[in-house]
Amino acid sequence: MSGQQFRRNIIVTGGAGFIGSHLVRLLVKKYPEYRIINVDALTYAGNLANLKDIENCDNYVFRKADVTDFEAMRRIMEDFHVDAIIHLAAESHVDRSIKDPFIFAKTNVLGTLTLLQASKEYWESLPEKFDGKLYYQVSTDEVYGALELTRPDGEAPYGDEFFTEQTRYAPHSPYSASKASADHFVRAFHDTYGLPVIISNCSNNYGPYQFPEKLIPLFINNIRHGKPLPVYGKGENVRDWLYVEDHARAIDLIFHRGTPGETYNIGGFNEWKNIDIVRLVIRTVDRMLGRKEGESERLITFVTDRAGHDLRYAIDSSKLHDELGWEPSLQFEEGIEKTVRWYLDNQEWLDNVTSGEYENYYARFYGDSDTH
Ligand code: NAD
Ligand code: DAU
Repeated sequence: MSGQQFRRNIIVTGGAGFIGSHLVRLLVKKYPEYRIINVDALTYAGNLANLKDIENCDNYVFRKADVTDFEAMRRIMEDFHVDAIIHLAAESHVDRSIKDPFIFAKTNVLGTLTLLQASKEYWESLPEKFDGKLYYQVSTDEVYGALELTRPDGEAPYGDEFFTEQTRYAPHSPYSASKASADHFVRAFHDTYGLPVIISNCSNNYGPYQFPEKLIPLFINNIRHGKPLPVYGKGENVRDWLYVEDHARAIDLIFHRGTPGETYNIGGFNEWKNIDIVRLVIRTVDRMLGRKEGESERLITFVTDRAGHDLRYAIDSSKLHDELGWEPSLQFEEGIEKTVRWYLDNQEWLDNVTSGEYENYYARFYGDSDTH
C-alpha cells in the first residue's frame, strides 16, 4: 500500500467513539490531501454508524485493532507509512472505572505505552527519523484532580482557581489515574527518547454521538422515556462543558500549530452545576416533545453519590487562546438545543446502542437499576 499520494498519513485511534468520530469527520473533510486511518477495537463505545457519512471517502480507512496489540500497531504504521498519531482510544467512563479498574489500566496505560513504543521504533527505522513526525495524546482535565467550590450558590464561576498547564497531576478515580499515568509515559518518551509529542487536556464534552451512559445523553433518553434521572449526591458538582466540535477544532489547531513537548488545556470557561444542567435539559426536552416545560422535573431522583466524586473541574484555556487564537464557537444553551434535537431526531441510533447485546452488558454492569 503506498502512502505517497497523500501528504500525510495520520492514525486516529478511537475514531469510532464519541470525540474520535467528530475528529475523523473534521479531518477527512477538511484535508483531502491527508489519509486518515481510524484504528478502533469497536468496544461497546465504538460504533461505525457514527461515521456513515464519510465511510466511502477516498482518504479514509478503517482498521479494527486493539491499541494494546503491539504487532498490530507496528504493522498498521508500516502499511500506511504513518507520520502522525492522534490517540483518543480509551475506556472513558468514570463509573465503569470504579467497578472494573483493570481494563482502564490495560487500555489507557498499556495502550498508550504500546503506541509510543510502536511509533518510536517505526519512526527510528526511517531515514528522516522523528523529523516531521508527531504523537498527539488526547487527555482530560480529570488528571488535575478536583477544585473547591468557593463562590456562593448561583454565582458562576464557582471559584477563583482554575486548572492551568502548570497544575500538578492529582487524579482521584481509577479512570483519571489511568489517564494521568498514560500522560506521564508520553512525557517520558519525549524527555528520554526525544519523541515529538503534544498533550491536550480537555474538559467535559457534550454533543451528538456521545454514549448514553454519560450525564447529558443518558438524561435526554430517560426524560424521553419517562424514566428516573439519577442525580448523584445533591447535584452540586461543577463541570466545565464544551461542545464536541469545538474540541475537535482545538485538536486540529494544536496538531498543526502546537509546539512539540508542550501541553495545551482546552475548555470553554463554561461551568455548570449538575442540577442546573439537568433542569436545562429537562426544559429543552419537554419543550421539543410538546410537553409542559419543566413537567419532567418529577423524574429527578437524588441517588447515592459517586465514590470519590470530584467536586469541581474548571479549565483555564488562555494559553490556547493567546498562542493559537482558539475559542469555543457555541454558547452552552445553543449547544444543548442542538444536542437534544440530535438525540430526539436519531432515536434509531440511541435504540441501537441501548438494546440487544449492549442492553445485556449494561444490565450486568449496573445491576437491576431502572435509572440507566
Ligand atoms: P468513547 O468512550 O466515546 O470512545 C472510546 C473509543 O475508543 C471507542 O470507539 C472504543 O471502541 C475505542 N477503544 C476502546 N478501547 C480500545 C482499544 N483497546 N483499542 C482500540 N480502540 C479502543 O470516548 P470519548 O468520550 O470519545 O473520549 C475519547 C478520548 O478523549 C479519551 O481518551 C478520553 O479520555 C478523552 N476525553 C474525553 C472527554 C469527554 O468529555 N468525553 C473529555 C476530555 C478528554
Ligand atoms: O472532564 C472530562 C471528563 O468528562 C472525561 O475525561 C470523561 O471521559 C467523561 O466521561 C467526563 O467525566 P465525568 O465523570 O465528568 O462525566 P459524566 O457524564 O459521567 O458525569 C458528569 C457529572 O454528572 C458528574 O459530576 C457525575 C454526574 N452524574 C453522572 C451520571 C452518569 C450524575 O449525577 N448522574 C449520572 O447518572
